[in-house]
Amino acid sequence: LRPCDLQGLWRNELGSNMTLLALDMDGTFSGSYHTAVAATDKQILVSPLQGVLQPPGTKGQQPTFGFTVQWQFADSTTVFVGQCFVDRRGKETLETAWLLREGVPSRRDVWKATSVGTNVFTRLPNKME
Ligand code: BTN
Repeated sequence: LRPCDLQGLWRNELGSNMTLLALDMDGTFSGSYHTAVAATDKQILVSPLQGVLQPPGTKGQQPTFGFTVQWQFADSTTVFVGQCFVDRRGKETLETAWLLREGVPSRRDVWKATSVGTNVFTRLPNKME
């Protein structure tokens, strides 16, 4: 079984696309996220992400990872954690869970500020987004 490679273009079941760039020496990576949906009516903008892979190198066959998306169009932050799985045919799947924290005007609104969910990403053929 070949190890899972996080680098490349991925799409989830909502139709959101993300590009993950090559791993740094220490197992950190960056990329960009184009969400298909948003909590606000503001125009969606492609937004940067920063992540870490565990174990850091290419040793892990099915590594875990986390990344944070810094939305460019909302006062919210999303963190994803997940694991990359490779099936017998070599098909890779990213199984993730996320927390979305929205900005609220006051502490009285904190109760509704965080949402949680899961996303499954599959690899897209490498072409321009
Ligand atoms: C916002 O509306 O506050 C920013 C965009 C949030 C998009 C969320 S992040 C979790 C879920 N998965 C996606 O691909 N998009 C939504």
